[in-house]
Amino acid sequence: MEKQRNSFTGKIGFVLAAAGSAVGLGNIWRFPYLAAKYGGGIFLLVYLILAVSFGFTLMIAEIAIGRKSGLSAVGAFKALDKRFAFIGYLAAFVPIIILPYYSVIGGWVIKYLFAFCSGSSSLAAEPGYFEAFIAQPTEPVLWFLLFIAVTAIVVLMGVEKGIEKISKIMMPILIVLSIIIAIYSITLPGAIDGVLYYITPNFESFSVKTVLAAMGQLFYSMSLAMGIMITYGSYMKKDVNLESSVTQIEVFDTGIAFLAGLMIVPAVFAFSGGDEAALGKGPGLMFVTLPQVFASMKGGTIIGVVFFLLVFVAALTSSISLMETIVSIFCDKFNMTRKQSCIAVLAVCLALGIPSSLGFGIWGSITIIGMSFLDFFDFISNSVLMPIVSFLTCIFVGYIIKPKTISDEISLGAEFKRKKLFEVVIKYVAPICIVLILVSSLLDTFGIFKI
Ligand code: PHE
Repeated sequence: MEKQRNSFTGKIGFVLAAAGSAVGLGNIWRFPYLAAKYGGGIFLLVYLILAVSFGFTLMIAEIAIGRKSGLSAVGAFKALDKRFAFIGYLAAFVPIIILPYYSVIGGWVIKYLFAFCSGSSSLAAEPGYFEAFIAQPTEPVLWFLLFIAVTAIVVLMGVEKGIEKISKIMMPILIVLSIIIAIYSITLPGAIDGVLYYITPNFESFSVKTVLAAMGQLFYSMSLAMGIMITYGSYMKKDVNLESSVTQIEVFDTGIAFLAGLMIVPAVFAFSGGDEAALGKGPGLMFVTLPQVFASMKGGTIIGVVFFLLVFVAALTSSISLMETIVSIFCDKFNMTRKQSCIAVLAVCLALGIPSSLGFGIWGSITIIGMSFLDFFDFISNSVLMPIVSFLTCIFVGYIIKPKTISDEISLGAEFKRKKLFEVVIKYVAPICIVLILVSSLLDTFGIFKI
């Protein structure tokens, strides 16, 4: 029996769900600290240029592949050219690897949200609190289970009633919360220096690394090269304008990232008396520095609640897209029902997520090529698989099925205005840039060339 494929009801549902996937932890903690580190305004400018050229091209290609084939990643590449089915399998690995550890971090976010709600915010600001929490054997695992359970419930409810509905509720909330916190943050005493630091181009910090960092961030932030946009594209109706949808998703994603910078950089500046080193703490920024910043402010507990609620919403809509992508592949590939597929995905998630969590505590001595489980999964997916998949996607579209196949699909909904740009970027610019990202991130990881 042919199962009727799920679909989004229309453009808004699609755009909000895809934006929900794109806006995630990466926008909120990673973007601001990269911007601060790589030259403020100049980073923002480079990011923007890359988003409208490189990001636009890759995203529209993926969505069109999904819509044309009506299938998730594995089936989609196969349907377009049998010899290239392997790209779909490679792409499918990425969300399988990311979802478990992303959910571990999602669990930490819920923990902090609860800590702030229950008024123990000053506790969360104490030195060593975060390290002690993630090292525990059971508590972080329980929060991880809660996070993944909420994700699974939404996915179980399906594309229209689950994902679309929740995105339509959550995404407007996310915008409002971001604006509230950004306004609060830039009006703190001493914050204006932080605002200036964030938006003024600092040409001294500009180098090729700025471009590479912006490009790597763009990939991750737009949820590219992991089959997500292919899957969501396969749920898109043929008459929807694909080009303007992509523009709207990009405006959303970049807008929230920019606002996140306005929330975090000025607040951290005001707190640290202008010490930019406070921004460069990686994940520690969100779980260590910010709680200290909140603890030092008047009304900080409430701001902390609002902030972690915002992060939770952002992380949840992203994890939903990750899980949906895998569930959809299992449904297409093994002819499973949505429910069977969800159960299978949950099992994989537990198997990979629990070690990721325990890797900060009782399994801390186990490392893979010198990394903890979580760092290793992050490295394999972001630094290795994603550039490879996107490179292959460009070659596939540029030289195998040809850009015209994609342009024709896009033209079904409306005239494809940036067709020329698309063709040049997918054939020449993007493959070269991606090889540069891959090489530089490998060299960086192995300490040969520090980004
Ligand atoms: N795009 C998300 C972010 O910016 C991250 C993400 C990665 C989401 C992979 C889903 C899948 O945080």
